[in-house]
Amino acid sequence: MATADIGLIGLGTMGSALALNIAENGFTVAVFNRTTEKMHAFMEEAGDLADRVVGCESLEDLAAALKGPRAIILMVPAGDPVDQQIEALDPYLDADDLIIDAGNANFRDTMRRMEALERPFLGVGVSGGEDGARHGPAIMGGGDPDHWARVEPVLTAISAKFEGAPCAALLGETGAGHFVKAVHNGIEYADMQLIAETYGLMRDGMAMAAPDIAPVFERWNGGRLSSYLIEISAKVAAAHDEATDGPLLDVIVDAAGQKGTGRWTAIEAQHLGTPIPVIEAAVSARNMSAKRDLRATLADAFGGSGKLELTEEALEAALTCGKVLCYTQGFDMLRAAAQAFDWTLMREDVARNWRAGCIIRSAMLDDMAEAFEIAPGKTLMEAPYFADILSETVGALREVVVKASASGLPVPVMAAALGYFDTMRMARGTANMIQGQRDFFGLHGFERLDNGKTGQHGPWADD
Ligand code: 6PG
Repeated sequence: MATADIGLIGLGTMGSALALNIAENGFTVAVFNRTTEKMHAFMEEAGDLADRVVGCESLEDLAAALKGPRAIILMVPAGDPVDQQIEALDPYLDADDLIIDAGNANFRDTMRRMEALERPFLGVGVSGGEDGARHGPAIMGGGDPDHWARVEPVLTAISAKFEGAPCAALLGETGAGHFVKAVHNGIEYADMQLIAETYGLMRDGMAMAAPDIAPVFERWNGGRLSSYLIEISAKVAAAHDEATDGPLLDVIVDAAGQKGTGRWTAIEAQHLGTPIPVIEAAVSARNMSAKRDLRATLADAFGGSGKLELTEEALEAALTCGKVLCYTQGFDMLRAAAQAFDWTLMREDVARNWRAGCIIRSAMLDDMAEAFEIAPGKTLMEAPYFADILSETVGALREVVVKASASGLPVPVMAAALGYFDTMRMARGTANMIQGQRDFFGLHGFERLDNGKTGQHGPWADD
């Protein structure tokens, strides 16, 4: 009998958590997993919530369990598995049944699927890890408003709430939801790397042990930097390892994993021609972290780093400055994408969506939403509230980058943030030299400053 309000395919960590969240919010969810044992194990784990879960052993059963027109969430790995799942489902669905891809899809795949499929389709970014999926994630929708309206009651009910407002919204057309999720992850990489660099300065430059670093992050979490990532960094630094009777952080291998979403952000920024050097540096930093053997060899060849003197306040201010510059770039990229893809994507809606539930949730996002409302079309660097923060903190970022570099301590993302700041506040840049060079070797032409004439050439044809 068709009793279920919504279907969910893929009972991995995120899928299971999302299904339980849906059931807990009073909706009946029909679930299917490729391996049936996993579905049975999930039904066991569901406990009291199992009353509102229909476990299905086949896609045919799943289709039969759902009220029409059907809505089915896919929580399968991004890429080919999504296409395969859509194809396998198709024979059991009616023309107006809706598929919602809630995995970490590349937005270009989402756009392709929407174009090719002759059925309603939504591309939805979900953030918050397992705990978020279970108790309230941020949900970033992309697609047709009529399709979104069909599942909005479920998605808003299960989402995180910021002061009562749901962090679930249709943010734009076609691939906008998955694009926003990719930029979220790009910012996530940079936010994490900025914290890691600060940790590195305290560990290697200031000889602080992990248990001494934890309370510093804890203090910062009580101020302007208050955020989920600072909060968990304090907990990670404080964790004790039973086996070695020392800080757990000291026995974790220093090579960061990545599933590719940060990389996609960097690639798309190049397609869009929008500068996001802070995020790009964070992706590169992960790639450098993976080269452990080479780093060990080069450490032997070139020696280590020196000590440095920095106050906790300077580090906090430098981190704040880097963070504002990182978000400036991420939000600029969203604006560039909205123009390029003709999406009605509004930065204030994205900032509001990220205020709770997602990995990059932080106190600053509420102020960012307000800044975009007050100053539409402006970057964060121009918004008065954030311009004041930058003026107040950039001196500390400069001090930290200068001292760290002088001591040979790596701060690639902080340095990228400072480089961006200094480049963008330079009214007269240095690309006149680039244009001169391009004209010299390729007769590409340049524009003159004195009379505005374009397609001009230098006298070098005779050289
Ligand atoms: C989130 C996270 C989540 C996950 C990604 C990125 O918003 O909940 O971004 O999607 O952490 O898989 O992880 P990588 O670091 O492996 O790229």
